[in-house]
Amino acid sequence: MDHCQKEIDLLTRCLILADDQLQQIQSLLMNSFNDGLKRETNPVAPVKMFPTFVREVPDEKNKYVEGKFLALDLGGTNFRVLLIELVGDELHHETEIYTIADELRNGTGEKLFDYIAECIFLFLDKRNLVEFRMPLGFTFSFPCKQEGLNSARLTTWTKGFKCTGVEGEDVVKLLREAIDRRNDIEVEVMAIVNDTTGTMVSCALQNKECRVGLIVGTGTNACYMETIENVELYNEDITDVNQVVVNTELGAFGDNNVLNFARTRWDHTVDQLSAEPGKQIFEKMVSGMYLGEIVRCILCELTQRRLVFGGKGSVQLMTPKGFKTAYISAIESDSKDDYLYTRQVMAEIGLRHATQSDYDMVKLICSRISTRAAHLVSAAVSTILNKMQRPYTTVAVDGSVYKFHPHFHQLLEEKTLQLVKPEIKFDIKLSEDGSGRGAALVAAVATKQDIQRKISTGNRLAFEPVNRKNSRMELKQFLKSCNETF
Ligand code: GLC
Repeated sequence: MDHCQKEIDLLTRCLILADDQLQQIQSLLMNSFNDGLKRETNPVAPVKMFPTFVREVPDEKNKYVEGKFLALDLGGTNFRVLLIELVGDELHHETEIYTIADELRNGTGEKLFDYIAECIFLFLDKRNLVEFRMPLGFTFSFPCKQEGLNSARLTTWTKGFKCTGVEGEDVVKLLREAIDRRNDIEVEVMAIVNDTTGTMVSCALQNKECRVGLIVGTGTNACYMETIENVELYNEDITDVNQVVVNTELGAFGDNNVLNFARTRWDHTVDQLSAEPGKQIFEKMVSGMYLGEIVRCILCELTQRRLVFGGKGSVQLMTPKGFKTAYISAIESDSKDDYLYTRQVMAEIGLRHATQSDYDMVKLICSRISTRAAHLVSAAVSTILNKMQRPYTTVAVDGSVYKFHPHFHQLLEEKTLQLVKPEIKFDIKLSEDGSGRGAALVAAVATKQDIQRKISTGNRLAFEPVNRKNSRMELKQFLKSCNETF
């Protein structure tokens, strides 16, 4: 190591979290979870621990209706519409991706939901399905207070969304209103879920011990199955359940400053430059929306100190969001001998003059940032596993950082193993596309319950056709389900 490299190593050592720091984080997070769960402390607790209306995983076929469902997935850079066909415990799906432009993210809620309704129309029209009334599951990946399986009030936007007129509102109602404004499609929103819940439910179809859902993507969050006595905010009218999925919203861990001992000056800068300063502190140290930005801040400082790039930066390096999180995954995939991706990344951001030693240093910084992220997630996962005290649990994971970073899974698994109580065994599994598929599954369970209610009470089905021409598809699902159960 030359003199500059030694200095860079020293300057960035604060990014390495020692085991005692991680243990401290575990115990702070456990306190935050408990504060969120208790009625008295919840109003001021940053980690909200929202009880959902999902109380079981659909691990047996007779719990859901087979057939076709629509799923919407809103929560990151893109918006997706999925058509999902459930046959046995197999899911087949078709997906279309629609981008959410910055104007939509910063505009009115009405415009956002009109766009969503338009995408649903385009999706159905392309498949000649416009005339069917479809049951739908909505994955809406923002903090929401659930008021029913198909009713959820947004508490606060995260991940850079700022649409007006949505916070405090029931987002299913806003979606229905947008659909009614068009008057050319009909869907029945059977369920609204967070992406963590979707991921868990979807994985549980094949993995019977799956009780935790984790997302490490644009944002970071986890849900898990909690025993009902611990969830003081749970609606006590419902007496026949003993467990419920809790959406932790752990991205907000640290919003009361408890994580400050582990944050660096670069974390503070990224927070200040973000759309929501002071909020989602844990998420800002871990997730895809911010990791590239932390690396950029570090590289800017090192350039100013003349420790990299001969002291000469580039416009893109100086521009917020100029260093994508995907670059970290690419750079860390390189072998030291060729630096194939690193070279290309440097060229893309105007740093063609970077030397071999610069490549080494950029890689070191990327790896310190991603390792810290993985270790923070390990602290969170192990805290949840320790809290649940199940002998064996599968953790379902989705999200771009987890999926595309070459070592994230391994780092996460190894550190979780060190941090979890020795008697607790676990498995960490990719639940690919779980969030959208899970919403459809929850909708399928809700549809089944609706049908059973209809049969026992004689009430109208929630998805019964009202005024559209044709209802063949739903009727088929209905009949099939009746044959199976009765
Ligand atoms: C943010 C959202 C949360 C979501 C997570 C992952 O933290 O607040 O609801 O689950 O991102 O998408």
